[in-house]
Amino acid sequence: MDELFSKSNLYYRDLARDIALNHVKPIAAELDRTGEYPWQVIKALQDKGMMGMWIPKDYGGAGGGLLDLCIVCEEISRVCGGIGCTYVVNALGSFPIILGGTEDQKKKFLPEIAAGNKLISFALSEKDAGSDAGSLTTTAEKIGDEYVLNGDKKWTTNGAAARLYTAFATVNRDRGTRGVSAFIVERETPGFEVGKREDLMGIRCVPVNETHFRNCKVPASHLLGGAEGRGFKHAMMTLDVARPFVAAQGVGIAQGALDLALEYTKQRHQFGQSIASFQGIQFMLADMATQVEAARQLVYTTARAVDAGVKDFSKLSAMCKVFATDTAMKVATDAVQLFGGYGYCRDYPIEKFMRDAKITQIYEGTNQIQRMVIGRALIKEGASA
Ligand code: CAA
Repeated sequence: MDELFSKSNLYYRDLARDIALNHVKPIAAELDRTGEYPWQVIKALQDKGMMGMWIPKDYGGAGGGLLDLCIVCEEISRVCGGIGCTYVVNALGSFPIILGGTEDQKKKFLPEIAAGNKLISFALSEKDAGSDAGSLTTTAEKIGDEYVLNGDKKWTTNGAAARLYTAFATVNRDRGTRGVSAFIVERETPGFEVGKREDLMGIRCVPVNETHFRNCKVPASHLLGGAEGRGFKHAMMTLDVARPFVAAQGVGIAQGALDLALEYTKQRHQFGQSIASFQGIQFMLADMATQVEAARQLVYTTARAVDAGVKDFSKLSAMCKVFATDTAMKVATDAVQLFGGYGYCRDYPIEKFMRDAKITQIYEGTNQIQRMVIGRALIKEGASA
């Protein structure tokens, strides 16, 4: 349905599809085994100016919209959910600066990210502050013209690959979420350390690390937005924009699993005919395809709403994240089923899609948290109606 896309959407889709087929596909299985980082894909994306396609032109980016970014994420994740994640997490890390940074911070940090010279991570979660992000305990104390950060972060996605981190810390725990402040931390800052790498079920090429701050002195000029206490809102605003591209990752994984299932069921013969000729299999394929298309359209509608300047899109963003990532898990699981015993073996590519799909229901806010966001919004809307 190219007719529904803008020129920009088609341009990015074709670029991403080319990179997915020529750079991602040849290495996806190998990186899943070795856990190595897809630097060669990052380089290919960098060469095509894709590393900062979501960053405004004024700061060295391509000024692409959220729909462009979702399409790129979908195309890469259709071939490898892990590599899709390594790419798109840079958008998660940089949106706090785009949405809440001062002019100086934007000018200082965004062009390097846009050029692909520095990858950026988002360091919000902690061991005991996951869904309850506002209860984080990493502290930031202002001493002179610096903030001294102390604490430990968990689930810093791309942690070992990044050079920059948007890190969230509290300047006053008594103020709850209103004490949370965001800082831009450079990798080489003394007192900052990348720690343990998690041994993950899926997205195995992605280094998900603990990150540590030990008397880590960050210049006061790196306090995001130049004011204390805005960090939680910056995190929430970022997640509202980010959840659609995780949803797009889900759509990509689901579509990739469906592609493989379709190909396999056509060539697999049992009872003297291809199993795709059985109505029971066709019904499964039809349901999978319908679910993928419904998820895709919800993601695209959300992204178009954001690009059109709709102000309050938290509910829509949470809805597309829930629906698309639950779809990814369901479709990938059904695809494994269609491969039968072979689907359960690592010799075949399909089980990786099921492993990669699972994380999309968990990160960037579990799907239970998304339902909470949707429920709260519905009640608020009801109250104001
Ligand atoms: N936009 C702007 N502001 C918002 C907001 C939004 N979407 N949502 C809440 N806020 C504001 C509220 O208005 C409130 O402001 P005031 O202090 O001025 O009143 C403040 O934030 C606190 O709001 P709540 O009382 O609603 O906050 P809460 O503590 O109940 O938490 C939550 C709400 C939705 C559960 C939130 O904690 C949340 O989203 N949790 C999930 C966290 C998450 O997604 N983590 C994933 C991290 S990234 C990752 O997974 C790893 C990776 O790198 C891929």
